[in-house]
Amino acid sequence: MMAKTIFITGGAGFIGSHVVRLFVNKYPDYKIVNVDVLTYAGNLENLTDVCDAPNYVFEKVDIVDFQAINKLFEKYRPDGIIHLAAESHVDRSITNPFAFIHTNVMGTCNLLHAAKEAWKNNMEGKLFYHVSTDEVYGALECDGTLFTETTRYDPHSPYSASKASSDHFVRAYHDTFGLPIVISNCSNNYGANQFPEKLIPLAINNIKNKRPIPIYGKGENIRDWLYVNDHASAIDIIFHKGKNGETYNIGGNNEWTNIDLIHTLCAIMDKKLGRRAGESAELITFVKDRAGHDLRYAIDSSKIQKELGWHPSLQFEEGLEKTVDWYLANETWVNHITSGSYQKYYEQQYNQR
Ligand code: NAD
Ligand code: DAU
Repeated sequence: MMAKTIFITGGAGFIGSHVVRLFVNKYPDYKIVNVDVLTYAGNLENLTDVCDAPNYVFEKVDIVDFQAINKLFEKYRPDGIIHLAAESHVDRSITNPFAFIHTNVMGTCNLLHAAKEAWKNNMEGKLFYHVSTDEVYGALECDGTLFTETTRYDPHSPYSASKASSDHFVRAYHDTFGLPIVISNCSNNYGANQFPEKLIPLAINNIKNKRPIPIYGKGENIRDWLYVNDHASAIDIIFHKGKNGETYNIGGNNEWTNIDLIHTLCAIMDKKLGRRAGESAELITFVKDRAGHDLRYAIDSSKIQKELGWHPSLQFEEGLEKTVDWYLANETWVNHITSGSYQKYYEQQYNQR
């Protein structure tokens, strides 16, 4: 592997931290620069095992700050960018759409523009990889259809509209300025280190503490779940083998209604916690539906499977059990989020260096 310097934006978040770990460990000749402003979703405790690696650097920078981004390009002269930084939670986008417009649209445009300026004299060997979501395609009926790379964009939430907008800008910079790009659109991820506001970690935490598990509407909405490490391995393959200008859909071929998923999770947790069968399921509480709630997402990932040889590695029940084990074994990680102390980690670790 040729030595490269790579910016991974959003590397302190859920998926980003798994991508950072994979790249730092697998590519010792690469310099991995984690660019993250540490919003509520950024947690450097996700990366304690790699933070001292010689090929890893952390830069606390806001991607909305164009000057700061430009300075970072001058300082490191990156060859590639894997862009994951985003506001990512649909419910928050309903309460505060503007945070999503700022980070997901403006932040992405800043990075694109800085990359185009930095690379304009020689785009050879450079790549802007934009990590996007299946939510840009809208919602499917329960009729077996799947999102493909050519499905028409039809976003419904401020979150998915902001991601769709950023995808369009990435393609615009490719078509207009010749910026080398790839985009991937992935389905719902689950696994270790996911912020406990998303369905699976929220439910695990509530089950453990015998608190109600909120299910929106009737729990009939369907998501296609993928283990986060499988998403990270897809990102690795796309970054190294993806074709300039292409889009790749990534998914688990693993559709679950929310209510069936929660029943499966409750059964796993009853066993792990030594509870009587059915005890945790008594915590299920149906609540008001999410506004504009997309009925079903499901991905056709045959393109990345056939063209790049990627395959998901885990069955869902196995991945779910591993995830439950991780949350039960890492109570301190959850407690630091609940108490807010995880947000002091940066000052404690980095201001002393
Ligand atoms: P996350 O919310 O866990 O992490 C986002 C990270 O981005 C955090 O570390 C945060 O501090 C950082 N960040 C936010 N705003 C920033 C800014 N202005 N400047 C610098 N850093 C900033 O998100 P996630 O779930 O890990 O998702 C990562 C990416 O993958 C997002 O782009 C998301 O749209 C996409 N995605 C997520 C999923 C999923 O299921 N979670 C599925 C498909 C695609
Ligand atoms: O599809 C990819 C997307 O998956 C990513 O782009 C997003 O960043 C990620 O957050 C996720 O979006 P969802 O809205 O699908 O994930 P969430 O975990 O919020 O919700 C999953 C499903 O569970 C959804 O149908 C809403 C429902 N839900 C969610 C929460 C938080 C509940 O029923 N109760 C809840 O408390």
